[in-house]
Amino acid sequence: MLTLLFPEGAKDETEPIYQSSPIARYYNVLARHVIGRLADTADRGRTLRVLEVGGGTGGLTSAVLPVLPADRCEYVFTDISPAFVQSAVEGYQRYEFVTGRTLDIEGDLAAQGIELGSFDLVLASDVVHATADVKRTLLHLREVLAPGGVLAMMESRIALEALASRTSAISPLPEEPRYLPSYLLRGRISMPVQVKR
Ligand SMILES: C[S@@+](CC[C@H](N)C(=O)[O-])C[C@H]1O[C@@H](n2cnc3c(N)ncnc32)[C@H](O)[C@@H]1O
Repeated sequence: MLTLLFPEGAKDETEPIYQSSPIARYYNVLARHVIGRLADTADRGRTLRVLEVGGGTGGLTSAVLPVLPADRCEYVFTDISPAFVQSAVEGYQRYEFVTGRTLDIEGDLAAQGIELGSFDLVLASDVVHATADVKRTLLHLREVLAPGGVLAMMESRIALEALASRTSAISPLPEEPRYLPSYLLRGRISMPVQVKR
């Protein structure tokens, strides 16, 4: 499926959905304000550790990198697809605090080299719905958070429908998508979630 949507990592077809469409721009700007505020209020005496999962074409990444403190931030861009990771590493070279690596959020995170309980901020934009078991994915996202860390997650019914129309010949979405709770699908949700550990 990924290969069909993003042949050899090509982003021409999908980038506008997550980056330059009016809806993407609107929500990415909102996310930038929220993330910028979180960064401003974070402890300035230590490094802010950020993990992005399912970073894909970088719609959210491009919005938030400019508001993060370059001198005290480590940003780990991840995606299940090596092609997206490579593209991000090349595209964000000017942000020296960004590194990239592949990560399957459904797999064993520690075995993939991710330090559990270590990230102050975990970003997940339009990726949780793409996983087979949403509950397990959310548990994994919580596992990587440091005490007091924040999960900032966005999910989009509109994006789901756009993708469904592109992929329906291959894998039709059910009329009522069954893999995300319905309250998450009633419109676009942008929510920073404070997860207590
Ligand atoms: C709908 S796109 C997200 C778009 C991206 N956040 C953006 O703003 O451009 C979903 C992304 O999740 C990635 N993905 C799918 N399953 C994944 C998994 N199990 N672990 C990590 N990433 C995954 C895909 O490769 C794709 O880049």
